[in-house]
Amino acid sequence: MTQAKDESKERKNGLYRGVSAELAENMKRGWADTERRDLAPLAQAPHAEHRRARLSARFPGELLVVPAGNPKVRSNDTDYPFRPSSDYVYLTGDQSQDAVVVLEPRPEGSHQAVAYLRPRSDRENGEFWLDYHGELWDGRRNSLTENERLLGLPCRDIRTLVGRLGAATGPIRLLRGHDAGVDAVLRDKVTAERDDEFRVALSEMRLVKDEFEIADLRFACAATVRGFEDVVRILGTDTPTPERAIEGTFWMRARTEGNDVGYTSVCAAGPHATTLHWVRNDGEARPGDLLLLDAGVESRNLYTADVTRTLPVDGRFTPVQRKVYDAVYAAQEAGIAAVKPGAAYRDFHDAAQRVLAEHLAAWGLFGDRSAEEAYELGLHRRWTLAGTGHMLGLDVHDCARARTESYVDGTLAAGMVLTVEPGLYFQSDDRTVPEELRGIGVRIEDDILVTDGGNENLSDGLPRTADDVEAWMARLRS
Ligand code: GLY
Ligand code: MN
Ligand code: MN
Repeated sequence: MTQAKDESKERKNGLYRGVSAELAENMKRGWADTERRDLAPLAQAPHAEHRRARLSARFPGELLVVPAGNPKVRSNDTDYPFRPSSDYVYLTGDQSQDAVVVLEPRPEGSHQAVAYLRPRSDRENGEFWLDYHGELWDGRRNSLTENERLLGLPCRDIRTLVGRLGAATGPIRLLRGHDAGVDAVLRDKVTAERDDEFRVALSEMRLVKDEFEIADLRFACAATVRGFEDVVRILGTDTPTPERAIEGTFWMRARTEGNDVGYTSVCAAGPHATTLHWVRNDGEARPGDLLLLDAGVESRNLYTADVTRTLPVDGRFTPVQRKVYDAVYAAQEAGIAAVKPGAAYRDFHDAAQRVLAEHLAAWGLFGDRSAEEAYELGLHRRWTLAGTGHMLGLDVHDCARARTESYVDGTLAAGMVLTVEPGLYFQSDDRTVPEELRGIGVRIEDDILVTDGGNENLSDGLPRTADDVEAWMARLRS
């Protein structure tokens, strides 16, 4: 829902003192009819309809409310680029801001979905040009009729939603936290416990991807491969490359082919690679160092890839870099091999982490303890830091509200997509490891689709072995 006007944020320094009656009248007239009457439904519309039907079956007789959310202020009167809530996108395929999808219960048990959206700006009252966010300034919106054609469901003016929700009497479930206006209207009609169940159900629905989602993730991975190739082409072999130049290069690919990056790119050169969330990207990639690049293109439908490669900036791994790289590669191989339908979700994590522990033991990092003993005590975690992967989809860490029993303690099924991303990270100030390892961080991350027969690596357009990485870099630079 559009938020009430905050007068404290209104500009006080406009150059025009007012609007003459003549200008107001002039601005109403002379605009062509631009209604588009030839629109076909979005390719995603039938999939969204099927998803809504599944949700409907889970909550018969209840009014279900899922907001897209509102823009967030970056500073003063400038907002961050808007990105709708993933569950709203999942249920509609739409990306409008301030929108809400409502599933109205029908007496026979199913639901009628209605999208509440901002209509086109009114020309008669001047809203389209006098409002700072009118269409003249922010761009044309779809009319409600156009949206009905595109989304394949009835669309109503968002300004009527307060009345509808205010009049609601039966049980209601709300996806909270996206639209403060809707949360406030429904405050006394919903309970935290029931809304939490609703949030969990939405998250769990998204565990197994449909055909449209898989195709979109496949595209996001392919575009991400092209973004990594772009980065290799600009990496200097005898001059440093700013991490921000790497970030900007990947971002150009993401904006050109997709919507954006799905998360802030980690462009971590040298010892920065040991900081898992290195997004300052204010260093430089020097020949001789490794570059850990963790980046993913988010498609125009908002599905994201999540891929990491660790590259020798000058094109050749040093012996010690290769030793660490090979250990991580072996762990990733073991992890990917464990991804298949019917396997426990934890299997790929255990498989990869055990291989890492064996290498750490072989390098003497556990002292007298065996790899098995150190693994049971979790001692490897000083250098492996994170888990081995996560579900992937509309959110980079997808399905995050799913119950433990359906996610980390659950079973893999065909149609799930997850990352396998083991890593080793030796901090520069870690005096428990030989000096040659300090400041080295390596992660290899791929996006894996669980198939009926096992799995498919959606990001295998990028090389993974050390030799293949070197050959690929040489080819791109030649
Ligand atoms: N890029 C975030 C992650 O790998 O989980
Ligand atoms: Mn990642
Ligand atoms: Mn990841």
